[in-house]
Amino acid sequence: MMTATLSSCAAAAAPRSQSAPQGVKTTANSGYRTPPVKGPVPRNPDQNFPSATYPSGSSISYSRVLVSGNYIAITFDDGPHPQNTPRLLDMLRERNIKATFYVIGQSVNLYPGVVRRTVAEGHEIGNHSNTHRLLSKLSDEELKLDLGRCRDAVARAAGVIPRTLRPPYGGLLQRQRELVHAEFGYPTILWSVDPLDWKRPGASVITSRILGGTTAGGIVLAHDLHAQTVDAMPATLDGLLSRGFKFVTVSQLIAMKKEAPAPASAAGSAPVPAAQ
Ligand code: NI
Repeated sequence: MMTATLSSCAAAAAPRSQSAPQGVKTTANSGYRTPPVKGPVPRNPDQNFPSATYPSGSSISYSRVLVSGNYIAITFDDGPHPQNTPRLLDMLRERNIKATFYVIGQSVNLYPGVVRRTVAEGHEIGNHSNTHRLLSKLSDEELKLDLGRCRDAVARAAGVIPRTLRPPYGGLLQRQRELVHAEFGYPTILWSVDPLDWKRPGASVITSRILGGTTAGGIVLAHDLHAQTVDAMPATLDGLLSRGFKFVTVSQLIAMKKEAPAPASAAGSAPVPAAQ
């Protein structure tokens, strides 16, 4: 298990030490203009998949999902960021790709307009906690308070409720995952592809790691907090599309979950989980 692994987002510490003022409004990021596209851009197919209900027997945690077809979910953590997120949204829109954004509640309060745009363009918002602390060190009450604050910030900013949790650093005890599932209805979402983009290895390295690691049913971890990650996205997204992958949101990917074939000797035992 990946409990309390400090593998991801380690450079993405809580962005502000003091708590952000509640309900702060920011103006739209109107200064940025996307450079004109040169040449044809590959396009994700038009698709309409349900995400409203999870299948019965859905897991408490996922790092990938067993699906039929070349579906993947790309996720972006630690935003919203006032410049990098809008730039990424432009890239996704050009390609008809829907992604999942695991936002930090404090940053949502600072940049609610970015979250509104993200939702308006069809992306999914997930809970990445309010303060980006290592949740496995929190008491149950602190954990519920922190996740509730992020949920409420997203609801205030964009009128939607997150449906999944990605714990900062992937750190959440199994007992806490069960608590979060019971209290919030969130499955805990980890990942199957980690390009370590927060270490800023260079855009081309980020691209090649993602292209090399992605398989059907995969969940790709990336961080829209970092400009370099966003710089890597045109080649990454185009490369994944050209390999035949089709992008869906995390909730859509879970809703597609296929039952794993039962092992021959498993009569009467619990179903085999399709994800770690
Ligand atoms: Ni993070």
